[in-house]
Amino acid sequence: MLSTTGQEQQGTLELQKEKKGAGPVECLGLTFENEQARREHFMALLKEKLQDPEFRKIPGFPQGSDEAILRMSDPPYYTACPNPFLEDFVRCYGKPYDPDEVYEREPFAVDVSEGGTHQLYKAHGYITKVPHLAIVPSILHYTKPGDIVLDGFSGSGMTGLAAQWCGTAPIAYRQQLEKEWEEDNHLPPEWGARRVILNDLGPEPSFISAGYNLPFDVAKWEREAKHILKETEDEIGWMYECEHVDGRAKGRINHTVWSEIFSCPECTGEIDFVRETLDLQSKRTRDNFICPHCGAQLNKDRLVRIFETRLDPISGETWKRIALRPVIINYNVGTSKYERPVSETDLNNLAKIERLPYPKVVPGNPFPVSQMYHGSRLEPKGITHIHHLFVPRAAHALAAIWEKAGLIQDFSTRRMMFWVVEQAIWSLSILNRYRPTGYSQVGQSLDGVYYIASQHAEPSPWNILYDTQKRTNKIDRIVQCFSPCPSLTGYSALQTGDCAAIRIPPNSVDYVFTDPPFGANKFYADLNLLIESWHGVTTAPMQEAIVDQPKHKDINKYQDLMRCCFAEYWRVLKPGRWMTVVFSNSSNGIWRAIQEAMGAAGFVVADVRTLDKQQGSYRQVTSSAVKQDLVISAYKPTEQLQKQFNIGESSVEGAWAFVREHLHNVPVFVGRSNEVEPVVERTAQMLLDRMIAFHVQRGISLPLSGPEFLQGLQQRFPERDGMYFLPDQVTEYDRKRTTATQLRQLSFFVNDEHSAIQWIRQQLQDKPQSFQDLQPQFMRELQAWAKHEQTVELKVILEQNFLHYDGRGPVPSQIHSYLSTNFKDLRNLDKEDSKLIEKARDRWYVPDPNKQADLDQIRERALLKEFEDIKESSQRRIKQFRTEAVRAGFKACWQERDYATIVKVAAKLPEAVLQEDEKLLMYIDNAQTRLGDDA
Ligand SMILES: C[S@@+](CC[C@H](N)C(=O)[O-])C[C@H]1O[C@@H](n2cnc3c(N)ncnc32)[C@H](O)[C@@H]1O
Repeated sequence: MLSTTGQEQQGTLELQKEKKGAGPVECLGLTFENEQARREHFMALLKEKLQDPEFRKIPGFPQGSDEAILRMSDPPYYTACPNPFLEDFVRCYGKPYDPDEVYEREPFAVDVSEGGTHQLYKAHGYITKVPHLAIVPSILHYTKPGDIVLDGFSGSGMTGLAAQWCGTAPIAYRQQLEKEWEEDNHLPPEWGARRVILNDLGPEPSFISAGYNLPFDVAKWEREAKHILKETEDEIGWMYECEHVDGRAKGRINHTVWSEIFSCPECTGEIDFVRETLDLQSKRTRDNFICPHCGAQLNKDRLVRIFETRLDPISGETWKRIALRPVIINYNVGTSKYERPVSETDLNNLAKIERLPYPKVVPGNPFPVSQMYHGSRLEPKGITHIHHLFVPRAAHALAAIWEKAGLIQDFSTRRMMFWVVEQAIWSLSILNRYRPTGYSQVGQSLDGVYYIASQHAEPSPWNILYDTQKRTNKIDRIVQCFSPCPSLTGYSALQTGDCAAIRIPPNSVDYVFTDPPFGANKFYADLNLLIESWHGVTTAPMQEAIVDQPKHKDINKYQDLMRCCFAEYWRVLKPGRWMTVVFSNSSNGIWRAIQEAMGAAGFVVADVRTLDKQQGSYRQVTSSAVKQDLVISAYKPTEQLQKQFNIGESSVEGAWAFVREHLHNVPVFVGRSNEVEPVVERTAQMLLDRMIAFHVQRGISLPLSGPEFLQGLQQRFPERDGMYFLPDQVTEYDRKRTTATQLRQLSFFVNDEHSAIQWIRQQLQDKPQSFQDLQPQFMRELQAWAKHEQTVELKVILEQNFLHYDGRGPVPSQIHSYLSTNFKDLRNLDKEDSKLIEKARDRWYVPDPNKQADLDQIRERALLKEFEDIKESSQRRIKQFRTEAVRAGFKACWQERDYATIVKVAAKLPEAVLQEDEKLLMYIDNAQTRLGDDA
């Protein structure tokens, strides 16, 4: 149905009220005369709360005065600090957890790059973003209208936008999605906005979220924004005026190019970087050039940096900074564009600006250089404080607009004005590089780093925000994208704080969508500092979940922080509900840390996919080496299952209850257009791994050995194509399987014994073959064998994991069925027929699960023997070892509660290898915890 839902109507109604500022309005169960009264009421409560020293002690509480926090906040919907009204939001708008409610969903994968060009997505940039259109299908799949969605690392608030979009999406979008879902045999979506709780540690991202998710009157904002920019131009437009080359007409500067001044290493003569390197005709920069004074051959690396001594405009003390000089101006006379070198008059104008009193609103706080990852890029150039990043004219212009924005009376109009003006901060700073061949000189800073180039473009503020001569400009773009999709009132609650302290009641959230920080990829707190300083509220970096050497955060610290965040997600999510985690391309160690953190918090991963951009389809992840972006679907076990483990002891029944719940939650059928793909989570090995992890992460012993587990699996669950199903699922699988003619092979990346076994199993499953046939193929796969992994001969792997037919007795059915399907002359022959036996002789094949259990026992004994050797080895450091032997040994030690041996052996193994092996680390982490507990 494409009808407008009740929630939408209510939201639109609220918006209309917001527009008129008329009331009455309902908020958290209270009724107010109008929006203004609502704000005043909650603002007073927040003000009072800020006086409470305990409130400020909440982990992740940002740094900033009460006044600055209140100026940014719009309680109860958004606070630039932990939000004391979140609990009420959940109480008023959420549905209490009902253990009897039937809720069934399969994991759902999304394309995290979808929608990256949508206007709304581009309305405000952020360090990393997941487009809202990539999130919408997930929210529609996992939730119903009115459900509560949570994103604790919400960044710019795209999850909130997506939750609202489920109710406000245009009809064309809805029709397209419904068509796609129908083609995929997916039930139709239930349209209607979802409520959302957004949390981020950074005041800046949470402010961006507020702009995106809280309603404002677009027309009113447009009038006010254009008025402010016009007024600013009237007041300080003279700063951007210039003489035209004809000496008569007046030009208006679009941007000024600044050049760094160096000295020649040979003659110490002055080198103007732009003048010597830029070819004005071709607009290309030369790498090699000649000193204009002594003719020496130069390049940038040879130049000697020089400093100019100035007076710091805020402290009044002497300040040494790299020498920068304006060299070119680009300006308009009417609609015609011109460019010329900077003239004496231009320099006089700049000198006049520099003599003006320095604007008070420009922040002068220091950069915490020694604790910043990129601090070493700033300090050596003389940039130690925020205001050092602005040349005087840019500081004046930005300050003028910032101050005017602050004077706007209407609250949401004011918020949106800051929301847009803050987007000019990076472009107006000296981080904005000059790109000679670039179409625009706005937004040219290097992503994710404070980098000051030797050529800087200083655009005019109108060039960035509102240039009437440009066909499109920021203000008009904002109007165009917000007018058709206004935000809804009362659907979003935002806070600034630690994801590990969301502070809402347990079991209150219906779905979590999250895109956490990934290790050392981006330094959010550092990078947000520039804009946050203008607001006067900055991130509390202690809680930031990143790997960052200057802040003394290594991968273990990162994992600890993430574990606390996932534990909070687990606490607030309703049992049996889902969490989607998107994982951006990062190191394998970080991927391992994330998995470990999720598992330790209690989540069970049911599906990991990566988008194959060429094929446009999803692939399951089969190896621990990650090269692409992943979508991870994990669930919180149901209360029923949790109860079985609450007593802290394991039982065989509990283990099978876990397997049943897990099978219930993993996809039944993955496939499209005639092709079915095996579901990795349903394979015996994966189920065994998950069962082990579930127990170890809860600190309890394993009730079943590997062989017992495999036997039990075979007895309890129907098997198809090497996968296990619940009885009702197998019917669905069989039905869908008849429509697919091909079984796609999973691709395994062979880099250790474990993946080698999986690869061989796949080969032999399709075609039982002899050692001689298999070996050349196997050798080809071995190119990427891990350095630390002891080589294990193919013969040994075969003997320990597979069966060999030596021609004695009847031909095993696995070989028989292969031969009779593939060779006409061997069809319908008896298993003891000599022709068949001849062809079958010497082939290796995959044992049926009963025999597999016997083999596993033999293999485990061999592995444990090797583990004994590692344990007893007198070597302090073992560089190469058989990982499977260590895994088997750790498992045995865990069963015997011999935690000390696990920790002792781990100390001998290379740290870098352990960091990437989630199975080994799971035992080590838990053994360390146990030892700590026992001590
Ligand atoms: C990958 S970004 C999220 C981007 C977001 N998906 C978007 O579209 O804008 C991760 C975010 O986590 C935040 N963060 C880091 N540590 C945090 C913590 N302990 N609690 C809450 N947020 C944190 C960072 O400030 C950053 O904004």
